[in-house]
Amino acid sequence: MSGSLVLGIETSCDETGVGLVRVGDAGNELLVDAIASSVDEHARFGGIIPEVASRAHLEAMVPTLQRALAEAEVELGDVDAIAVTAGPGLVGPFPERCLALVVSGGHSSLLLVDDIATGVTELGQTLDDAAGEAFDKVGRLLGLPYPGGPHIDRLAQQGAVTIRFPRGLTAAKDQAAHAYDFSFSGPKTAVARWVEARQDAGEEVPLPDVAASFAEAVADVLTAKTVAACRRLEVDTLVIGGGFSANSQLRAMAQERCAAAGITVRIPPIRFCTDNGAMIAALGAAVLRRGVPASRLDLPVDSSMPLTRITV
Ligand code: KG4
Repeated sequence: MSGSLVLGIETSCDETGVGLVRVGDAGNELLVDAIASSVDEHARFGGIIPEVASRAHLEAMVPTLQRALAEAEVELGDVDAIAVTAGPGLVGPFPERCLALVVSGGHSSLLLVDDIATGVTELGQTLDDAAGEAFDKVGRLLGLPYPGGPHIDRLAQQGAVTIRFPRGLTAAKDQAAHAYDFSFSGPKTAVARWVEARQDAGEEVPLPDVAASFAEAVADVLTAKTVAACRRLEVDTLVIGGGFSANSQLRAMAQERCAAAGITVRIPPIRFCTDNGAMIAALGAAVLRRGVPASRLDLPVDSSMPLTRITV
C-alpha cells in the first residue's frame, strides 16, 4: 500500500479537479491539485446547466490531467488506483471517530464517522435548501453575481447583525424528530420578505447588514446543532467540509464554539473547501489502505448516492 499513487478525479459540479496523492507510512502526500473551472460560463445563466457543465468537463479533462501528471513528474502508467466522484462526497483523511458537517451547494448533512472507508452514518440533513443553495438564492434576490455565497460572505464582513432572521428546526418541539436536521428555506424567505418590505416603503436596503444577519442565522444553526450533537454522542473531533465550509462566519463561529466546548475542529484551507481532485484522491487513498475492493470500470454516476457509500 505504502508508495501507491492515487489519482483523484472530481467532476461533480462546475470544477474539473485532478489530484495526485502518494500513500506513505506516516500519512498521505499531496503531489498536485489541478483545477479547471467552468464557473464563468455558469455565471451567464445564473446557475449550473448540467449540459454546459458536462461539455466543459469533457473539454477540460485531458489538459487538466496532463497538467497534473507533468507537475507531479509522473506518468499515467505510474498510477495504482483511480478515485472518482460518482456521487456527493466527503473530504479526507479523517481521524478515528468524529462528527462530520458536510455543507455545500447541495448538502447540509451531519454524519457520524467511525471509519471513513467503511463506517459512516448519516444523523441528519437539510429538509429543504442546503446552506450554500440558500446563500446563492439570497445572493440572487440581493442582485449579487452567481454564485452568491462568497459575495454574501464578503458583504457580511462589512455589515452588522441588526436583524433577527429565523433559526429553522431549533424550537424545543423539533428536538425529538429533527435534532440533527436543518432547514434553510425559512431564513431565505424571511430575507426576501424583509427586503421587499423595505423596497415597498421606498427605503434603502442596508445590504451589508442583511448579509451579516443572514450569515449569522445560518452559522448559528449549523454550529449550535453540531456542537450539541458532539456533546450528546460524546465525540470530541469535528470535521467540516464542502464548499460552504469556506464561509468566514461559519468558520469563525465553529472555531469559537468548539473551543468553548472542548471540541477539536478541523476545517480544510479555503482552496480545498470547494470542489477539487485532491480530496477525492485522499479519500481514495484511505479506501485503498483499508483494502476495500475496487469498483467495476463502468461504475455509474448516481447523483442521489447516499453520503455514506464509498467505493473506488
Ligand atoms: O461543494 P461545492 O464547491 O459544490 C457544490 O455543492 O455545488 O459548494 C459550492 C457552494 C455554493 O453554493 C457557493 O455559493 C458556496 O458553496 N460557497 C460559499 C462560500 N464559498 C463557496 N458560501 C458562503 N460563503 C463562502 N465563502
